[in-house]
Amino acid sequence: MLLRAVLTFPIRTVLEPLASSYKRQLAKQIAFHCGEGARVLDVGCNDGLVAYMIKEYEPSLAIVGVDVQARKPAMIKRILYDGRRLPFPDNSFDVVMANDVLHHVANMGWLLKEMRRVSKRYIIIKDHQKCAFFSQFFLSLADCFGNLPYGIPCVFNYKSLHEWAQLFGEADLKLAVGPENLELGFGLIRQHNPIFKLEKLNAQNL
Ligand SMILES: C[S@@+](CC[C@H](N)C(=O)[O-])C[C@H]1O[C@@H](n2cnc3c(N)ncnc32)[C@H](O)[C@@H]1O
Repeated sequence: MLLRAVLTFPIRTVLEPLASSYKRQLAKQIAFHCGEGARVLDVGCNDGLVAYMIKEYEPSLAIVGVDVQARKPAMIKRILYDGRRLPFPDNSFDVVMANDVLHHVANMGWLLKEMRRVSKRYIIIKDHQKCAFFSQFFLSLADCFGNLPYGIPCVFNYKSLHEWAQLFGEADLKLAVGPENLELGFGLIRQHNPIFKLEKLNAQNL
């Protein structure tokens, strides 16, 4: 316990203030894409801080979270599930989002299809993008610092833009907006952090 506290001290003092401004910017951009009065599911909500911040930008949203663990108390209503089948009927939400979650999931295609199933129309993904030869190393390092000290397992499953497009196609999703970059940092830091707003291919038939 003491060793963990000592080892994570630099992370808590240096990286946590940075993480907080990262999450605020993320929340601001996602809130803009949710639309007024939407019922939103936050997949992999963790402590619900990002969802809470999103609601500060767009108070009309109703946001529920799901996660596979409850290491921290949640700031929004959070439901635990097995990581396979989302515990909701088809078409339950206007928007289903996953922020920095899919690269923690080995079978992200499966989770994308589940997100599609419970969404009436939109799916919002904030994740990482491999866009340079050192991306895998750079992103893995950032993931280790940002998640392992908090007990969040990493599987380092990063995709290039081309691979994202392929996954979205396989899940019958088309790009509605974006990808836009998280408006934080510069150059490669921004390019590594895309936001995709996706739409179900048959949404107009619902
Ligand atoms: C890096 S955190 C991101 C948390 C939050 N979305 C945010 O933006 O602050 C990744 C989260 O994904 C969760 N997670 C991992 N596998 C998952 C799965 N199959 N379904 C839902 N959540 C999952 C982890 O437990 C963790 O809370």
